[in-house]
Amino acid sequence: MPFDFDHVIDRRGTGSEKWERYAGRDVLPMWVADMDFAAPPCVLEALHRRVDHGVFGYTLPPQSAIDAVVLHLLERYHWRIDPSWIVFTPGVNRGMNLVCRAVGERGDAVVVPSPVYPPFFGAVANSQRRLIDVPLARRAGERWELDFVALAERTPTDARLLLFCHPHNPVGRAWTRAELEQLAAFCLERDLWLCSDEIHAGLEFDGRQHQPIATLSPEIAARTITLQAPSKVFNLPGLGLAYAIVPDADLRKRMLGARTGLVPPDLSPLAYAATEGAYREGEPWRRALVAYLQGNRDHLAAFLARETPELKLAPVEATYLAWIDATALGQPAPAKFFEQHGLGLNDGAGFGAPGFVRLNFGCPRATLDEGLRRLRAAVAASRR
Ligand SMILES: Cc1ncc(COP(=O)(O)O)c(C=O)c1O
Repeated sequence: MPFDFDHVIDRRGTGSEKWERYAGRDVLPMWVADMDFAAPPCVLEALHRRVDHGVFGYTLPPQSAIDAVVLHLLERYHWRIDPSWIVFTPGVNRGMNLVCRAVGERGDAVVVPSPVYPPFFGAVANSQRRLIDVPLARRAGERWELDFVALAERTPTDARLLLFCHPHNPVGRAWTRAELEQLAAFCLERDLWLCSDEIHAGLEFDGRQHQPIATLSPEIAARTITLQAPSKVFNLPGLGLAYAIVPDADLRKRMLGARTGLVPPDLSPLAYAATEGAYREGEPWRRALVAYLQGNRDHLAAFLARETPELKLAPVEATYLAWIDATALGQPAPAKFFEQHGLGLNDGAGFGAPGFVRLNFGCPRATLDEGLRRLRAAVAASRR
């Protein structure tokens, strides 16, 4: 079935966080991680069916939605989970905050390989834990890797938890099985809980397949909290549905306790309907999306190499986020600089990497082309 990812939808005036930031200004937003595409037709149909029911009361997780999640993990990742391991949350960030509160005590160390999506740092601070920031290593060809020597050296004995992003926002890595095995072995050896944010799973390029780290062995599964959601792949973040998979019963209980009064136990009935539609029928759309995004990635990479060689792009193995080293421009705040030239990017400083920018290419090709024109004009101005 053909899906039209080239179709440009005007999102202005819809309260879109991405587009409202620059309302009334000629700045093209390519920052926060949502896409400018409509949700898949199967999701829209599921939502219409639920709307037609007409009653929107407080909603427990419907059994059919739980079944859809279980089936999705089994079919896509050969991961057989017990339904009782699922803890629904109104978002992955909320889930990560619950994990940080549920593991250990105030003041305990939490290890965070960085640069990383900024709310990882926030989750540690919000739960009054101690951040142990361990830099990823940047290897030849701009590829980022886990630095196991640094991890071993910097992880203190009172560390209880490691926060991991798989695939990785912003450095674009789809971690290999060997890397996952080494990380799992490290966590087991140091008696660490592993919180694996896998919200970008399903957005791998060049034929790569996502492997949840919890599927490596029963031992690592028992120590892992996997955070998942349909929201990145199917572009539904505004509906507010995510889930944690927590095989350990005690930890699950502590997470449920930590949510009291802060995180509602019931989510929107529309969010459950959309999740079910996406997971049951969305696979053809997902495949078409990945092919389209891969085309955008290739287009972007070729453009940067040809037109703005001073910008260094990390290889994008997954996600619709390009991580770009802009230090050669000599701008103290590169995102501000690009914004002055009509392009809204994320600044690397918040991710722990000043001098970098993150560009979201989850948009129609025509929008990407307009963004690239603005990028080229900004770089040309910096050369003067
Ligand atoms: C790695 C990662 N985790 C979590 C989130 C946010 O998830 P949610 O909106 O479900 O809290 C994002 C959104 O960009 C993300 O990239």
